[in-house]
Amino acid sequence: MKSHCFFYKKKNYSIVSNGVVTKKSYSNIALIKYWGKRKNKIQIPMNSSISYSLEEVYTVTKLIYSLRERKKKRSIKIFFSGKEKTNFLPKIFEFFHRISFYCSYLRYFNFVIKTDNTFPHSSGIASSASSMSALALCIMEIEKKLDSSLKEAFFLKKASFLARLGSGSACRSIYPGLVVWGKHKSIKGSNNLYSIPYPYKIHPIFKKIWDTILVIDEEPKKILSSKGHQLMNHHPYAKERLKFANRNMDQLISILKIGDFPKFGELIEHESLNLHAMIMTSNPYFLWMRPNTLHVLHKVWDFRKQSKKNIYFTLDAGANVHLLYPIQEKKVIIRWIYSELIYYCKKIIESFCQ
Ligand code: DP6
Repeated sequence: MKSHCFFYKKKNYSIVSNGVVTKKSYSNIALIKYWGKRKNKIQIPMNSSISYSLEEVYTVTKLIYSLRERKKKRSIKIFFSGKEKTNFLPKIFEFFHRISFYCSYLRYFNFVIKTDNTFPHSSGIASSASSMSALALCIMEIEKKLDSSLKEAFFLKKASFLARLGSGSACRSIYPGLVVWGKHKSIKGSNNLYSIPYPYKIHPIFKKIWDTILVIDEEPKKILSSKGHQLMNHHPYAKERLKFANRNMDQLISILKIGDFPKFGELIEHESLNLHAMIMTSNPYFLWMRPNTLHVLHKVWDFRKQSKKNIYFTLDAGANVHLLYPIQEKKVIIRWIYSELIYYCKKIIESFCQ
Protein backbone atom coordinates (compact mmCIF):
# COMPACT_ATOMS: atom_id res chain seq x y z
CA MET A 1 0.00 0.00 0.00
CA LYS A 2 1.21 3.51 -0.80
CA SER A 3 0.81 6.58 1.47
CA HIS A 4 -2.04 8.00 -0.62
CA CYS A 5 -4.17 4.95 0.24
CA PHE A 6 -4.41 6.34 3.75
CA PHE A 7 -6.14 9.61 2.80
CA TYR A 8 -9.58 10.01 4.31
CA LYS A 9 -11.65 10.31 1.17
CA LYS A 10 -15.24 10.57 2.41
CA LYS A 11 -16.83 13.99 2.41
CA ASN A 12 -19.39 13.31 5.13
CA TYR A 13 -18.26 16.05 7.51
CA SER A 14 -21.87 17.01 8.35
CA ILE A 15 -21.99 14.10 10.80
CA VAL A 16 -18.94 15.32 12.73
CA SER A 17 -19.79 15.90 16.41
CA ASN A 18 -18.25 16.00 19.88
CA GLY A 19 -17.12 12.75 21.44
CA VAL A 20 -14.71 10.73 23.56
CA VAL A 21 -12.66 7.67 22.60
CA THR A 22 -10.37 5.55 24.79
CA LYS A 23 -7.66 3.15 23.62
CA LYS A 24 -4.90 1.08 25.14
CA SER A 25 -1.55 0.30 23.55
CA TYR A 26 1.50 -1.70 24.59
CA SER A 27 5.13 -0.75 24.74
CA ASN A 28 7.51 -2.97 22.79
CA ILE A 29 11.06 -4.23 22.98
CA ALA A 30 12.99 -4.48 19.72
CA LEU A 31 15.06 -7.60 19.02
CA ILE A 32 16.51 -6.04 15.89
CA LYS A 33 16.66 -2.33 16.44
CA TYR A 34 15.39 0.53 14.31
CA TRP A 35 18.34 2.87 14.20
CA GLY A 36 18.68 5.72 11.72
CA LYS A 37 16.18 7.32 9.36
CA ARG A 38 16.45 7.81 5.61
CA LYS A 39 17.63 11.30 4.71
CA ASN A 40 14.97 13.80 3.55
CA LYS A 41 12.14 11.39 4.26
CA ILE A 42 9.62 11.56 7.08
CA GLN A 43 10.01 8.68 9.51
CA ILE A 44 11.37 6.12 7.05
CA PRO A 45 13.78 3.72 8.75
CA MET A 46 17.26 2.90 7.49
CA ASN A 47 16.73 -0.78 8.35
CA SER A 48 13.90 -3.12 9.19
CA SER A 49 13.24 -3.92 12.83
CA ILE A 50 11.30 -6.51 14.79
CA SER A 51 9.90 -6.35 18.33
CA TYR A 52 7.80 -8.11 20.91
CA SER A 53 4.87 -6.18 22.34
CA LEU A 54 4.94 -6.15 26.13
CA GLU A 55 1.75 -7.20 27.84
CA GLU A 56 2.05 -5.50 31.22
CA VAL A 57 3.63 -2.33 29.97
CA TYR A 58 0.99 -0.16 28.36
CA THR A 59 -0.61 3.26 28.02
CA VAL A 60 -4.31 4.08 28.20
CA THR A 61 -5.31 7.24 26.37
CA LYS A 62 -8.61 9.06 26.41
CA LEU A 63 -9.10 11.53 23.59
CA ILE A 64 -11.86 14.08 24.08
CA TYR A 65 -12.73 15.95 20.91
CA SER A 66 -15.04 18.91 20.63
CA LEU A 67 -16.11 20.98 17.67
CA ARG A 68 -13.87 23.94 17.10
CA GLU A 69 -15.14 27.41 16.26
CA ARG A 70 -14.18 28.33 12.73
CA LYS A 71 -11.28 30.76 12.37
CA LYS A 72 -10.10 30.08 15.94
CA LYS A 73 -6.75 28.34 16.40
CA ARG A 74 -6.84 24.65 17.27
CA SER A 75 -6.47 23.99 20.98
CA ILE A 76 -4.84 20.82 22.32
CA LYS A 77 -4.38 20.06 26.00
CA ILE A 78 -2.54 17.07 27.32
CA PHE A 79 -2.73 15.53 30.79
CA PHE A 80 -0.37 12.83 31.96
CA SER A 81 -1.37 10.98 35.14
CA GLY A 82 -3.85 13.79 35.84
CA LYS A 83 -1.30 16.60 35.47
CA GLU A 84 -1.28 19.02 32.57
CA LYS A 85 1.94 18.67 30.54
CA THR A 86 2.62 21.66 28.33
CA ASN A 87 6.15 20.38 27.51
CA PHE A 88 4.63 17.48 25.50
CA LEU A 89 2.71 19.91 23.28
CA PRO A 90 5.34 20.63 20.57
CA LYS A 91 5.64 16.90 19.80
CA ILE A 92 1.85 16.48 19.78
CA PHE A 93 1.29 19.51 17.53
CA GLU A 94 3.96 18.22 15.15
CA PHE A 95 2.20 14.84 15.12
CA PHE A 96 -1.20 16.39 14.38
CA HIS A 97 0.38 18.51 11.69
CA ARG A 98 1.93 15.45 10.00
CA ILE A 99 -1.22 13.35 10.09
CA SER A 100 -3.76 16.08 9.24
CA PHE A 101 -3.00 15.32 5.61
CA TYR A 102 -4.40 11.82 6.03
CA CYS A 103 -7.14 12.61 8.54
CA SER A 104 -8.82 15.75 7.16
CA TYR A 105 -11.65 15.50 9.74
CA LEU A 106 -9.22 16.46 12.51
CA ARG A 107 -9.41 20.11 11.49
CA TYR A 108 -12.93 20.35 12.94
CA PHE A 109 -11.85 19.63 16.50
CA ASN A 110 -10.12 20.82 19.62
CA PHE A 111 -8.60 18.04 21.69
CA VAL A 112 -7.98 17.10 25.29
CA ILE A 113 -5.68 14.10 25.66
CA LYS A 114 -5.66 12.24 28.97
CA THR A 115 -3.04 9.57 29.24
CA ASP A 116 -1.85 7.11 31.89
CA ASN A 117 0.88 4.47 31.88
CA THR A 118 0.86 1.19 33.80
CA PHE A 119 4.60 1.43 34.21
CA PRO A 120 6.16 3.88 36.65
CA HIS A 121 6.32 7.41 35.36
CA SER A 122 10.06 7.96 35.77
CA SER A 123 11.25 4.48 34.91
CA GLY A 124 13.23 5.33 31.80
CA ILE A 125 11.01 2.92 29.85
CA ALA A 126 10.27 4.40 26.45
CA SER A 127 6.72 5.65 26.64
CA SER A 128 6.63 7.24 23.19
CA ALA A 129 5.87 3.87 21.54
CA SER A 130 2.84 3.07 23.70
CA SER A 131 1.58 6.66 23.97
CA MET A 132 1.87 7.53 20.26
CA SER A 133 0.28 4.25 19.22
CA ALA A 134 -2.57 4.70 21.74
CA LEU A 135 -3.19 8.18 20.34
CA ALA A 136 -3.12 6.89 16.75
CA LEU A 137 -5.65 4.19 17.71
CA CYS A 138 -7.90 6.88 19.27
CA ILE A 139 -7.77 8.88 16.04
CA MET A 140 -8.71 5.80 14.04
CA GLU A 141 -11.62 5.27 16.40
CA ILE A 142 -12.89 8.75 15.43
CA GLU A 143 -12.42 7.82 11.77
CA LYS A 144 -14.44 4.66 12.33
CA LYS A 145 -17.30 6.73 13.73
CA LEU A 146 -17.32 8.74 10.52
CA ASP A 147 -16.95 5.74 8.25
CA SER A 148 -18.76 2.67 9.49
CA SER A 149 -17.60 0.66 6.46
CA LEU A 150 -13.99 0.82 7.67
CA LYS A 151 -12.54 -2.70 7.92
CA GLU A 152 -10.54 -3.91 10.94
CA ALA A 153 -7.43 -4.72 8.87
CA PHE A 154 -7.36 -1.20 7.39
CA PHE A 155 -8.05 0.31 10.83
CA LEU A 156 -4.89 -1.32 12.22
CA LYS A 157 -2.77 -0.63 9.15
CA LYS A 158 -3.64 3.05 9.16
CA ALA A 159 -3.23 3.25 12.97
CA SER A 160 0.31 1.88 12.49
CA PHE A 161 0.93 4.31 9.61
CA LEU A 162 -0.18 7.27 11.79
CA ALA A 163 1.71 6.05 14.87
CA ARG A 164 4.91 5.88 12.79
CA LEU A 165 4.56 9.59 12.04
CA GLY A 166 4.53 10.24 15.81
CA SER A 167 7.38 7.91 16.73
CA GLY A 168 8.92 5.19 14.57
CA SER A 169 8.91 2.39 17.12
CA ALA A 170 5.27 3.22 17.97
CA CYS A 171 4.09 1.75 14.68
CA ARG A 172 5.10 -1.72 15.93
CA SER A 173 2.97 -1.36 19.07
CA ILE A 174 -0.30 -1.73 17.16
CA TYR A 175 -0.14 -5.54 17.08
CA PRO A 176 0.55 -8.11 19.78
CA GLY A 177 3.35 -10.66 19.42
CA LEU A 178 6.26 -10.27 17.06
CA VAL A 179 5.92 -7.26 14.78
CA VAL A 180 8.07 -6.14 11.85
CA TRP A 181 8.53 -2.63 10.49
CA GLY A 182 10.70 -1.68 7.52
CA LYS A 183 11.25 -3.37 4.22
CA HIS A 184 13.32 -6.54 4.28
CA LYS A 185 13.81 -8.74 1.24
CA SER A 186 13.12 -11.95 3.17
CA ILE A 187 9.89 -10.80 4.84
CA LYS A 188 6.84 -10.80 2.66
CA GLY A 189 4.67 -7.70 3.09
CA SER A 190 7.27 -5.83 5.13
CA ASN A 191 7.40 -2.16 4.26
CA ASN A 192 8.57 1.23 5.50
CA LEU A 193 5.17 2.87 6.00
CA TYR A 194 3.57 0.66 8.63
CA SER A 195 4.24 -2.48 10.61
CA ILE A 196 2.96 -5.99 10.01
CA PRO A 197 2.57 -8.98 12.34
CA TYR A 198 5.52 -11.32 11.79
CA PRO A 199 4.23 -13.49 8.94
CA TYR A 200 6.19 -16.75 9.35
CA LYS A 201 6.19 -19.81 11.51
CA ILE A 202 7.41 -19.39 15.08
CA HIS A 203 8.58 -22.28 17.25
CA PRO A 204 6.40 -22.61 20.42
CA ILE A 205 9.33 -21.61 22.64
CA PHE A 206 9.14 -18.08 21.21
CA LYS A 207 5.47 -17.74 22.05
CA LYS A 208 6.13 -17.83 25.78
CA ILE A 209 8.90 -15.41 26.56
CA TRP A 210 9.23 -13.43 29.75
CA ASP A 211 10.86 -10.01 29.95
CA THR A 212 12.22 -8.73 33.26
CA ILE A 213 13.09 -5.07 32.85
CA LEU A 214 15.80 -3.80 35.15
CA VAL A 215 15.45 -0.06 35.58
CA ILE A 216 18.98 1.11 36.23
CA ASP A 217 18.57 4.77 35.45
CA GLU A 218 15.34 6.69 35.94
CA GLU A 219 16.67 9.95 34.57
CA PRO A 220 15.52 11.08 31.14
CA LYS A 221 18.08 10.11 28.50
CA LYS A 222 20.78 12.69 27.84
CA ILE A 223 20.66 11.91 24.14
CA LEU A 224 17.13 11.35 22.92
CA SER A 225 16.61 8.62 20.37
CA SER A 226 15.41 11.18 17.80
CA LYS A 227 18.82 12.90 18.05
CA GLY A 228 20.59 9.51 17.98
CA HIS A 229 18.85 8.59 14.72
CA GLN A 230 20.14 11.81 13.14
CA LEU A 231 23.70 10.94 14.11
CA MET A 232 23.48 7.90 11.84
CA ASN A 233 23.35 10.19 8.80
CA HIS A 234 27.05 10.98 8.94
CA HIS A 235 28.13 7.93 10.86
CA PRO A 236 31.34 6.29 9.57
CA TYR A 237 29.91 2.79 10.26
CA ALA A 238 26.35 3.40 9.02
CA LYS A 239 26.74 1.13 5.97
CA GLU A 240 28.12 -1.71 8.06
CA ARG A 241 25.34 -1.26 10.62
CA LEU A 242 22.76 -1.59 7.84
CA LYS A 243 24.35 -4.81 6.55
CA PHE A 244 24.60 -6.19 10.09
CA ALA A 245 20.92 -5.48 10.87
CA ASN A 246 19.78 -7.03 7.58
CA ARG A 247 21.87 -10.13 8.17
CA ASN A 248 20.55 -10.42 11.71
CA MET A 249 17.00 -10.36 10.40
CA ASP A 250 17.76 -13.22 7.99
CA GLN A 251 19.31 -15.24 10.80
CA LEU A 252 16.46 -14.50 13.16
CA ILE A 253 13.90 -15.84 10.68
CA SER A 254 15.48 -19.29 10.72
CA ILE A 255 16.14 -19.19 14.49
CA LEU A 256 12.48 -18.38 15.16
CA LYS A 257 11.46 -21.31 13.02
CA ILE A 258 13.73 -23.96 14.50
CA GLY A 259 13.47 -22.74 18.10
CA ASP A 260 17.17 -22.40 18.91
CA PHE A 261 17.04 -20.26 22.05
CA PRO A 262 20.81 -19.87 22.65
CA LYS A 263 21.26 -18.66 19.05
CA PHE A 264 18.33 -16.28 19.54
CA GLY A 265 19.87 -14.95 22.74
CA GLU A 266 23.32 -14.45 21.25
CA LEU A 267 21.80 -12.63 18.32
CA ILE A 268 19.79 -10.17 20.43
CA GLU A 269 22.74 -9.47 22.72
CA HIS A 270 25.04 -8.86 19.76
CA GLU A 271 22.44 -6.67 18.09
CA SER A 272 21.88 -4.48 21.16
CA LEU A 273 25.63 -4.06 21.73
CA ASN A 274 25.91 -3.06 18.09
CA LEU A 275 23.30 -0.34 18.68
CA HIS A 276 25.30 0.91 21.66
CA ALA A 277 28.50 0.79 19.62
CA MET A 278 26.81 3.11 17.11
CA ILE A 279 26.11 5.79 19.72
CA MET A 280 29.60 5.41 21.23
CA THR A 281 31.22 5.98 17.84
CA SER A 282 28.97 8.77 16.57
CA ASN A 283 29.97 12.40 16.48
CA PRO A 284 29.22 13.71 19.08
CA TYR A 285 29.77 10.40 20.92
CA PHE A 286 27.83 9.21 23.90
CA LEU A 287 27.58 6.33 26.35
CA TRP A 288 24.13 5.15 27.43
CA MET A 289 25.34 2.41 29.78
CA ARG A 290 25.87 3.15 33.45
CA PRO A 291 28.29 1.21 35.69
CA ASN A 292 25.38 -0.89 36.97
CA THR A 293 24.43 -1.82 33.42
CA LEU A 294 27.87 -3.38 32.99
CA HIS A 295 27.67 -5.16 36.35
CA VAL A 296 24.37 -6.71 35.30
CA LEU A 297 25.62 -7.82 31.88
CA HIS A 298 28.63 -9.57 33.40
CA LYS A 299 26.49 -11.18 36.10
CA VAL A 300 24.13 -12.51 33.41
CA TRP A 301 27.03 -13.96 31.44
CA ASP A 302 28.50 -15.64 34.53
CA PHE A 303 25.16 -17.03 35.70
CA ARG A 304 24.37 -18.35 32.23
CA LYS A 305 27.68 -20.12 31.98
CA GLN A 306 27.38 -21.74 35.37
CA SER A 307 23.62 -22.56 35.40
CA LYS A 308 23.14 -23.28 31.67
CA LYS A 309 19.88 -21.33 31.88
CA ASN A 310 18.51 -19.52 28.84
CA ILE A 311 18.73 -15.94 30.02
CA TYR A 312 19.83 -13.23 27.59
CA PHE A 313 19.70 -9.44 27.54
CA THR A 314 18.79 -6.72 25.15
CA LEU A 315 19.25 -2.98 25.61
CA ASP A 316 17.36 0.00 24.33
CA ALA A 317 18.64 3.51 23.83
CA GLY A 318 19.49 3.89 27.52
CA ALA A 319 20.99 2.24 30.59
CA ASN A 320 18.17 -0.19 31.37
CA VAL A 321 18.41 -3.91 30.73
CA HIS A 322 15.70 -6.24 29.41
CA LEU A 323 16.26 -9.87 30.40
CA LEU A 324 14.51 -12.31 28.09
CA TYR A 325 13.97 -15.99 28.88
CA PRO A 326 11.51 -18.81 28.21
CA ILE A 327 8.63 -18.95 30.65
CA GLN A 328 9.45 -22.62 31.47
CA GLU A 329 12.68 -21.43 33.12
CA LYS A 330 11.09 -18.51 34.95
CA LYS A 331 11.03 -19.97 38.47
CA VAL A 332 14.79 -20.42 38.84
CA ILE A 333 15.75 -17.34 36.84
CA ILE A 334 13.40 -14.95 38.66
CA ARG A 335 14.73 -16.19 42.02
CA TRP A 336 18.27 -15.50 40.85
CA ILE A 337 17.38 -12.04 39.52
CA TYR A 338 15.75 -10.96 42.77
CA SER A 339 18.60 -12.25 44.87
CA GLU A 340 21.56 -11.16 42.72
CA LEU A 341 20.55 -8.22 40.53
CA ILE A 342 18.18 -6.24 42.68
CA TYR A 343 21.05 -4.14 44.13
CA TYR A 344 21.92 -2.74 40.74
CA CYS A 345 18.41 -1.50 39.89
CA LYS A 346 16.08 1.27 40.92
CA LYS A 347 13.02 -0.77 39.94
CA ILE A 348 12.09 -4.05 38.31
CA ILE A 349 9.18 -4.37 35.88
CA GLU A 350 7.87 -7.74 34.77
CA SER A 351 6.19 -8.38 31.46
CA PHE A 352 5.08 -11.19 29.21
CA CYS A 353 6.15 -10.86 25.56
CA GLN A 354 2.69 -11.43 24.20
C1 DP6 B 1 16.63 2.18 20.16
O1 DP6 B 1 11.00 5.26 17.89
O2 DP6 B 1 12.00 6.47 19.84
O3 DP6 B 1 14.35 2.01 20.79
O4 DP6 B 1 11.09 7.70 15.51
O5 DP6 B 1 12.55 9.43 16.53
O6 DP6 B 1 10.51 8.65 17.76
P1 DP6 B 1 11.62 8.29 16.79
O7 DP6 B 1 12.54 7.20 17.50
P2 DP6 B 1 12.14 6.00 18.44
O8 DP6 B 1 13.47 5.09 18.31
C2 DP6 B 1 13.56 3.89 18.98
C3 DP6 B 1 14.91 3.33 18.88
C4 DP6 B 1 15.19 2.10 19.68
C5 DP6 B 1 15.11 0.84 18.82
C6 DP6 B 1 13.74 0.31 18.50
O9 DP6 B 1 12.81 0.42 19.31
O10 DP6 B 1 13.65 -0.30 17.42
